[in-house]
Amino acid sequence: MSEMFDLVVIGGGPAGYVGAIRAAQLGMKVACVEKRPTLGGTCLNVGCIPSKALLHSSELYEQAKHSEAHGIIAKDVKIDVAAMIKRKDNVVSELTKGIDFLFKKNKVTRFEGHGIIMGKGEVAIKKESGSPESIKTKNILIATGSEVAELPNVTIDEERIVSSTGALNLKEVPKKLIVIGGGVIGLEMGSVWRRLGAEVEVIEFLDEVIPGNDEEIRKSFRKVLEKQGMKFRLSTKVTGAKADKKGVTLTIEAAVGGNAEEVKADIVLVAIGRKPNTKNLGLKEVGINVDDRGRIATNGHFQTNVAGIYAVGDVIAGPMLAHKAEEDAVAAVEIMAGQKSHVNYDLVPAVIYTHPEVACVGYSEERCKKEGIDYVKGKFPFAANSRAKAVGETEGFVKIIADKKTDKVLGVHILGIQAGTMIAEAVTAMEFGASSEDIARTCHSHPDLNEAVKEAALSVLGRAIHI
Ligand code: FAD
Ligand code: NAI
Repeated sequence: MSEMFDLVVIGGGPAGYVGAIRAAQLGMKVACVEKRPTLGGTCLNVGCIPSKALLHSSELYEQAKHSEAHGIIAKDVKIDVAAMIKRKDNVVSELTKGIDFLFKKNKVTRFEGHGIIMGKGEVAIKKESGSPESIKTKNILIATGSEVAELPNVTIDEERIVSSTGALNLKEVPKKLIVIGGGVIGLEMGSVWRRLGAEVEVIEFLDEVIPGNDEEIRKSFRKVLEKQGMKFRLSTKVTGAKADKKGVTLTIEAAVGGNAEEVKADIVLVAIGRKPNTKNLGLKEVGINVDDRGRIATNGHFQTNVAGIYAVGDVIAGPMLAHKAEEDAVAAVEIMAGQKSHVNYDLVPAVIYTHPEVACVGYSEERCKKEGIDYVKGKFPFAANSRAKAVGETEGFVKIIADKKTDKVLGVHILGIQAGTMIAEAVTAMEFGASSEDIARTCHSHPDLNEAVKEAALSVLGRAIHI
């Protein structure tokens, strides 16, 4: 007889490991099945953390080269790509080991192998060799995340044509890097390699980058990146790719169709999105429904259509973000434990960790218009913020969108340095149902970048002070 668990979590990423730990805190006997040798999922191993490590290192390099305005003259600044990658790997290794420690601390049993749902209350664990082991459980939480979406006729080999995973491990700075997809990965990883010296060109199918964001932010952001030297071909599609030892030749044409053209690069990064990871999980056999995009269908309580089987994170609907995955998982296991938890997807912040950063939460102007919401907007540029001026980083602005009748804040959009940190104020205020008057009357420390949030709130009310 195999051991009986209260919960078996399949996947050890931000959704899986956080769900496992929270369930253990709630007194459940928990197991987590992860096929990677290390815990932490996409986020810690090949996503959020390694990309942020390289973004920071490359930013330090760029700053070191251009600090004359501050009276700092650094001659012959050089990079050591291998050392940069090694540092990134060390950061990943320390953090993934940290999850092992947390599992031990919380008495979560860890199984290494590919998890397959055999039926209600049974998960098989398939290892590289040997026969699968089977474990029994009261509930199952699917947290298998997502994987790279591929483009027809463009085969990822992780050498010349890479996904984000390959782009995190290039051995040298490519002379020319073409990025297919002007989304978050394309612009973050494109920024890394541009800063390190590559000529970077982004090919985007739509007529603007970072779809889904506020239109004004999208345009302003692209212009900032253009000023930094990144090139863009918008409304363009890639129809084929040929890779050899010397490089890659892409065939492109207008998104609406037209004459084909060839463009060459040393490395091509495919970053056109990610798809739910449900391969060989036993969904069909057990009868678990998926939606039209292959994501596991769940109700508001993260339950699938099969009793006792729940799903969270990238593998279900909603933004594919680590913090959303974590919130899903906490809510799901609390619901299993009889609590009344839920996640407000309207208040999941999204950040692009470029320089400057982009951060947003809630409604864009376009969404307000689409939903017929009468709104007022207030805007404040960092050029008029004293801290931004003092550090010499005046690009961008804060925009607040509020309901015209009630003044309730509906959305906050920031383009600027540390936008990702600044957005937390907006998320907290919005969680408490703040009006722009509430933010405007909150005392903000001086001189701080967040004063731009207060001024944008004042601007909604028509009474900004410093502009
Ligand atoms: P995952 O992290 O994908 O974890 C799923 C785990 O399940 C994996 O470890 C996988 O090996 C395992 N698994 C799958 N199937 C099975 C199976 N059958 N049996 C056993 N194990 C299985 N998000 C942010 O919020 N901020 C960022 O800065 C950010 N940066 C990113 C940068 C990059 C380059 C990428 C690719 C993604 C980034 N993301 C970021 C997105 C973030 O990584 C995901 O939203 C997050 O990892 C989703 O968590 P998850 O637990 O749902 O899935
Ligand atoms: P994405 O959805 O952000 O962007 C994909 C881009 O590719 C879009 O602009 C889309 O219009 C374009 N595109 C799609 N098909 C195309 C084609 N055939 N040709 C040219 N362009 C095409 O996806 P991305 O950048 O791959 O990231 C995947 C996920 O990872 C995202 O959901 C994102 O939320 C998450 N992520 C989050 C980060 C963060 O929070 N800072 C960092 C990196 C990734």
